[in-house]
Amino acid sequence: MAGTVRSNPADLPIGVFDSGVGGISVLRRLVQRLPGEDFLFFGDSANAPYGTRTPDDVLRLSEAIVDRFLQVPVKAVVIACNTATSAAASTLRAAHPDLPTLGIEPAVKPALEYVRAHGGDVVVMATPLTLREKKFADLLDRLGAGVRVHRLPAPRLVELVEAGKADDPATERYLRGLLAPYMPDLGALVLGCTHYPFALPLFRRIVGPGVPIFDGADGVARQLRRELDAHGLLRARQAGGTVGFDNSDPGQIALGHKLFMADLGPDD
Ligand code: DGL
Repeated sequence: MAGTVRSNPADLPIGVFDSGVGGISVLRRLVQRLPGEDFLFFGDSANAPYGTRTPDDVLRLSEAIVDRFLQVPVKAVVIACNTATSAAASTLRAAHPDLPTLGIEPAVKPALEYVRAHGGDVVVMATPLTLREKKFADLLDRLGAGVRVHRLPAPRLVELVEAGKADDPATERYLRGLLAPYMPDLGALVLGCTHYPFALPLFRRIVGPGVPIFDGADGVARQLRRELDAHGLLRARQAGGTVGFDNSDPGQIALGHKLFMADLGPDD
């Protein structure tokens, strides 16, 4: 047997992917919560944005990434992309029933709980595809009774983050313009695209300190721990995990490293 073969499946890495560098906002949280695990991050920046593509297109791209991970191989996959989760998660799970495959969806639940107690509307910012898909409509049908929930796509923000401009003045103007109509009644903001948390300092400035901002990364980290545990795949060691970065556009790898280390402030 080759020396690189790991005999214990729990020692294999976890594959994490996104349409680009956005999923690194999730990866950061996974590494914080599971510091003994090895992670491999793949960003598909050459094909970003996914959010303005068709669901079939996003499914095809996601399948290719999972096939790539399986050649490593990995012990689990995290789809660190709300868009790819709505378009591909169920098909990927059916195709690979033995591979724990986790997705991410907009953190609507805690936002609704918050406004039910404190009042105000919920604004969910995400890609056009995520907001259009049945998965999101079902989520609102299930949970959203009695609260005004506004869907606010922000496709340009993905491009700005991919261009390393998450905290540029032009990005702030764009976000201020988008959010302005909702500000008077805003009770909670949901960042339903994994690129958006990199603009957290701007969002915090725009909405002010009194409006909570939710994203789904913590939920995914908790769920990943549960799933690994349930499959006997949690690594015994508590620290010393590694993180590998890969991207279909090699020019984005340096940006990925930078975003992984970025200080986004107290909400992160
Ligand atoms: N980061 C992705 C998400 O969470 C998608 C961004 C895009 O490629 O449009 O939805």
